[in-house]
Amino acid sequence: MAVISELCCPKCGYRSTSKTVFQCPNCKSILEVNVEISHLTRSDFDTMRRSRDRTIWRWFDFFPIENRSSIVSLGEGCTPLIHSKRLAEHLGISRFYLKNDTVLPTGSLKDRSNSVGLSVAKELGFMTATVMSTGNAAASVAAYSAAAGLKSVVMVPAGTATSKIIQARAYGATVVVIDGDFDYDVAKLYKAAVQEFGWYDCLSSNPYRDEGKKSYAHEMVDQLDGEIPDWVIHPTAGGTGIYAMWKGFKEFLSLGWISRAPRLVASQSAAAAPIVAAFVKGLRDVEPVVARETIAESIQVGNPVSLGWRALAALRESKGTAVALRDEEILQAQSLTGHLAGLFAEPAAATSVAAAKKLREAGVIGQNELVVCNLTGHGLKQPDAVRIPDEALRPIGPTLDALRAQVIRAGN
Ligand SMILES: Cc1ncc(COP(=O)(O)O)c(C=O)c1O
Repeated sequence: MAVISELCCPKCGYRSTSKTVFQCPNCKSILEVNVEISHLTRSDFDTMRRSRDRTIWRWFDFFPIENRSSIVSLGEGCTPLIHSKRLAEHLGISRFYLKNDTVLPTGSLKDRSNSVGLSVAKELGFMTATVMSTGNAAASVAAYSAAAGLKSVVMVPAGTATSKIIQARAYGATVVVIDGDFDYDVAKLYKAAVQEFGWYDCLSSNPYRDEGKKSYAHEMVDQLDGEIPDWVIHPTAGGTGIYAMWKGFKEFLSLGWISRAPRLVASQSAAAAPIVAAFVKGLRDVEPVVARETIAESIQVGNPVSLGWRALAALRESKGTAVALRDEEILQAQSLTGHLAGLFAEPAAATSVAAAKKLREAGVIGQNELVVCNLTGHGLKQPDAVRIPDEALRPIGPTLDALRAQVIRAGN
């Protein structure tokens, strides 16, 4: 049984007595859950590493769940950390790794969050879970709700890839497509719905669910056998990944299980880069921007209202940085990742590789540094991002001559 301390406000220090109120009544910040871990020892670390459980739940004591019987798991975690030799050579970074989260149960990093989030929902006795999402969170909340025995209502903006809507429906969710700006209109309706219907909120405004991405830190330390990356690059929207990874590394540091932490990098689409802008300007908080259309639709977020400032703090504390990428750079990185590493990442996920390329070219990342890029979502989530010329789809006659001509045209 994990020992949980109460929810508290990271800004003003308010301590909550409720387990279901997520926002500070004084300063309106999202509360933070701190799990009591000070009793853990080096031998607990060894036991966790030896466990046959290959999910994030190997690190149970770091998550805000009281009883193991509440765990809702679909086998998430322990995703491959791949030394991608050909891509490493191309980028000029000898120790280049891809953390392949495309293999998570619903195909994106959201499963790390929702396994924890829905486990708590079950423990607290909720009946319906909800999320507003550009698509990946919708599918993940739907899947984990199904496994937990909860109903789910997911809200997506008009224009969301049909493949993502189909996926959420396949898990039995009620999918509501909403016309309007994601950061303002959809967000306003979402907040009102959570209040009106008392549904379990699975957004980054839920402190329990935010703990899930600490598992990136746990897994990297384990998979690199104690060696710490020099840089970890994470595709960033709401800021949960950066904030939570940093918390995970800091918890390990506080226990003496590691001796240093990596520099963290947030990669964003230039069309929706409020965290990059705030980082460059040296601001303590994020100024919302109007997110423009981008091929990296999963991270098209202009107002990371819940955790933006905490992600900024993590980037600075870790001595990291933040990089904005143009759509051409993102598509090029997606193509490189497919052609040289054999991994199909959705455009949002490929921003981490695009950022690695840019930082290496600028000399910020050194040739022999150990770099991990999180590949946060599968390419099949947004298949239309890969453009195929009509000519390539036109059927040819069943002759060797026609085949030869086609192969030559394709450059093989
Ligand atoms: C594919 C993908 N990558 C990265 C993210 C980044 O999320 P966050 O900044 O909250 O970790 C998201 C979700 O918003 C996503 O769908």
